[in-house]
Amino acid sequence: MDTLEAIAARRSIRQFKDTPIPDDVLRTILKAATQAPSSKNRQPWRFIVVTGDKRREMVRVMRDGMARAKARGEGLGSAESTARIMEQAPVTIFVFNPHGNHPYLAHSIGEMFDDLVNVQSIGAAIQNLLLAAQALGIGSLWIGDVFHAYDELCAWLGEQCEMIAAVSLGTADEQPDARPRRPVSRVARWL
Ligand SMILES: Cc1cc2nc3c(=O)[nH]c(=O)nc-3n(C[C@H](O)[C@H](O)[C@H](O)COP(=O)(O)O)c2cc1C
Repeated sequence: MDTLEAIAARRSIRQFKDTPIPDDVLRTILKAATQAPSSKNRQPWRFIVVTGDKRREMVRVMRDGMARAKARGEGLGSAESTARIMEQAPVTIFVFNPHGNHPYLAHSIGEMFDDLVNVQSIGAAIQNLLLAAQALGIGSLWIGDVFHAYDELCAWLGEQCEMIAAVSLGTADEQPDARPRRPVSRVARWL
């Protein structure tokens, strides 16, 4: 599959089959993530792979965090349905920025700029990961809803640095149509 085909064919997948992802396929996908460009070649990404029985624990921790967030009056949006998808997907990969601080802590301007380039680099790595998965016939979902259980998941994963996202992976059990996009004419202008 060439790059443009993979970009066009990729969809967020929210229904997965119970088929495990072979270890070598997972490692190929992670290698593609590490081949992303990064600011000063800092490679500011760390991946934690959750599979097997650990998935149930992961979702329990996420739901605990969501319950606490709800008790604080925060809206949970799509988090409950995302937790169900994470429960079903055979693999979920958490992505951390080892140079980043907890988002609730004060950041200096220098730290903010470092964070901006590091998070862009990690975004490139995640997109590489999704496209590599696509090329290998594996469906994916990029997940921000883990933020509803930020502290709980970081504690469970043993990480104090900045959590950026999670990505669930597995064989797709649905074939969604392409979601709408604004045309280039509306989002780009030429001078
Ligand atoms: C940073 C980011 C966070 C996202 N978080 C979630 C999420 O928590 N749950 C979910 O179901 N989808 C999530 N998505 C998927 C988006 O909803 C999806 O990419 C968008 O609707 C476009 O659909 P497509 O990916 O099929 O083109 C996220 C996507 C991105 C880039």
